[in-house]
Amino acid sequence: MIKIQTAFERQREIYIRGIAGQRSDIPFNSAELRAKAKKYVSRAAWDYVDGAASDEATMARNRTALDEYRIIPKMMRNNSAASFSAELFDTRLPAPFLIAPIGALDMVTKRADVKIAAACRQTGTPFIFSNQAGDSMESCATVMGETDRWFQLYWSKSDDLVLSLVKRAEDCGCKAIVLTVDTTMLGWRSRDLSRGYLPFLKAYGIAQYTSDPVFMKYVRSRWEGEVQNDSKPGFTIDTIRHILQLRANYKGPFKEAMRSAQLFTQMYTNPALHWEQVSWLKSKTNLPVIIKGILHPDDAGEAVRAGADGIVVSNHGGRQVNGAVASIDMLPEIRRAVPRPFKILLDSGIRNGSDVFKAIALGADAVLLGRPYVYGLAIAGQQGVESVVRNLQNDFELTARLSGCRSLDEINSTCVHLPG
Ligand SMILES: Cc1cc2nc3c(=O)[nH]c(=O)nc-3n(C[C@H](O)[C@H](O)[C@H](O)COP(=O)(O)O)c2cc1C
Repeated sequence: MIKIQTAFERQREIYIRGIAGQRSDIPFNSAELRAKAKKYVSRAAWDYVDGAASDEATMARNRTALDEYRIIPKMMRNNSAASFSAELFDTRLPAPFLIAPIGALDMVTKRADVKIAAACRQTGTPFIFSNQAGDSMESCATVMGETDRWFQLYWSKSDDLVLSLVKRAEDCGCKAIVLTVDTTMLGWRSRDLSRGYLPFLKAYGIAQYTSDPVFMKYVRSRWEGEVQNDSKPGFTIDTIRHILQLRANYKGPFKEAMRSAQLFTQMYTNPALHWEQVSWLKSKTNLPVIIKGILHPDDAGEAVRAGADGIVVSNHGGRQVNGAVASIDMLPEIRRAVPRPFKILLDSGIRNGSDVFKAIALGADAVLLGRPYVYGLAIAGQQGVESVVRNLQNDFELTARLSGCRSLDEINSTCVHLPG
């Protein structure tokens, strides 16, 4: 079991190193972290990671909504001893957060997902493998040791592929399936559209597919749902660049690379997804099924009725429906609609310890950390992710203890205030 440094121990270490002029490469302030990361990646990768749908109003709202809540610290609670670890679906969390599934990070750095997995092992933090990862779930699981992992599933147009991915997740020790339901079509992402840039066409983010026997069978023969694609790019310098990049990213024959990327774009989303499929999935696996992308209290009720084991209240970091509510805006109402012990996680806009505290206070059992760990990855690879995760662990611990809490149970709605 990994020993997590307490905030006090880590603060001491940081200040003592400071005497010798040694400073962290990873900024402690989230705005500075974001600004620094931008300098380390290509403009296309930056826009893909940092961008959101249309005018990006929902991404901005995620932040303002979290900021509008204020913590009301309670004093003199003797919390010299405190623990904020949690257990969720047989998964141990040193602090109440997991690493969110984020796809196509091989655009940011090579072997990105394996580096993140290694950072998770070092910090004891569970990792949710993305269905759009740049490294296969098996290669990530190998470096994680005993650290817990879950698998995030996109329901493609092939149920056989869905089942194959779920089986692989079971085999590599994942403890839950997170079914993302808000991306049955790709959102209208203005920055990527302006560039005409979709990472998957360059074979970024398709490793779960190209390592899958069912998908590769379709690549090598035919998939019954396949349609002839008539739109062809013109032949320019950029086309040559694209081809070279695709070639570099794909470990296999070039013709197969082209075909894999194109077949993927036809299969990976499924607008026909409906609630009955949750019970079907439940009948095919013993793993808990958690539905990610819930914003409406009625849908939280649907998830319970469909037999789901938990939900993630999420607007996908504002990448899907521009103008959608912030996740935190809906959390109290959703918690009232689906009371404990039903498990609720939340993401979208989590940037620091006080955001985690507010989400727990408003009814979440845990949160998912999204873009900030990618910023750490961009700056310093595995070490960068580790630092971002440790900073959040420590920042949360101090926020909770300075607010008078000794455990997650003590963080409740009396600890926060919404002005107005
Ligand atoms: C670049 C990028 C790629 C993402 N890829 C996935 C994905 O493959 N699967 C998924 O369920 N969610 C994906 N998400 C959504 C995250 O899991 C999470 O909901 C979101 O990042 C939360 O917003 P925040 O990062 O602003 O806190 C992605 C988010 C980003 C920024």
